[in-house]
Amino acid sequence: MATSAPKKITAPMVGSRKASDGDDKLVMLTAYDAPGARMASAAGADMILVGDSVAMVVLGYDDTLQVTVDDMAHHTAAVARAKPHSLIVGDLPWMSYHVSVEETVRNAATLIRAGAECVKLEGGRKRLPMIEALIDAEIPVMGHIGLTPQSVHTMGGFKVQGKKADSALELVEDAKALAHAGVFGIVLEGVPVRVAEMITAAIDIPTIGIGAGPHCDGQVLVYHDVLGIEDRFVPKFVRRYADLKSASIDALTAYADDVRTGAFPNDEESYHMGDSEADALGLYGSGS
Ligand code: KIV
Repeated sequence: MATSAPKKITAPMVGSRKASDGDDKLVMLTAYDAPGARMASAAGADMILVGDSVAMVVLGYDDTLQVTVDDMAHHTAAVARAKPHSLIVGDLPWMSYHVSVEETVRNAATLIRAGAECVKLEGGRKRLPMIEALIDAEIPVMGHIGLTPQSVHTMGGFKVQGKKADSALELVEDAKALAHAGVFGIVLEGVPVRVAEMITAAIDIPTIGIGAGPHCDGQVLVYHDVLGIEDRFVPKFVRRYADLKSASIDALTAYADDVRTGAFPNDEESYHMGDSEADALGLYGSGS
């Protein structure tokens, strides 16, 4: 029996899902290209985040600060061409929403025109003017607070945030302000379990955790971490579900060996011409 295609997920659909209301937990994965998006969608991800983590896991940079709006639009367009059923979240890169409200809206529009169906940006209350302008421009916004990688230099490294009571309360206030402004969900990254639990209970939009414990309304992980492609630095919160780096190196080594020994390509992997044409060229015997 043919199975029907899964329903396209929208920002309002995500925004109405709360685990405390009995809804299923939300699943978000990053992806940066069409094959990755096809696989994430086939795996049933509710959301695909075209994250600025592309800088580190694909483009080889040491932090996320190096990618531009054009880089993000390039990867967003590749994901969109896969037509995933998952909601496509375009990540606004560093400096694309820090200078002015006008630049923020224009940069978000570039990601939307590339195929994103909403945008994500990092930061708490200080981002409210930008968030309000985006929502005014009919662009759904996802927030991101806690360990915000674009603040790596001000945080003094990729450090867990909200470990002290006063900083935890600041995060709760940030989350409430963002929810009040109309974001449809908030990524909580690198915060203690109890803080994520408090924030999740304090707002009626979903929280999506990464390094934020089990009480969030959903979870997000980076594609290359889940599949074991990235192994240079594996944060404590990552669970690997495959070891594709080793599997890929094994496969590529087998190919290299076959080329060197002449085992690849074989007859079935080669094209042939008819005998009469081969005769006309003066070629005899098999393998023509
Ligand atoms: O860019 C990214 O992958 C992210 C996730 C870590 C949430 O922002």
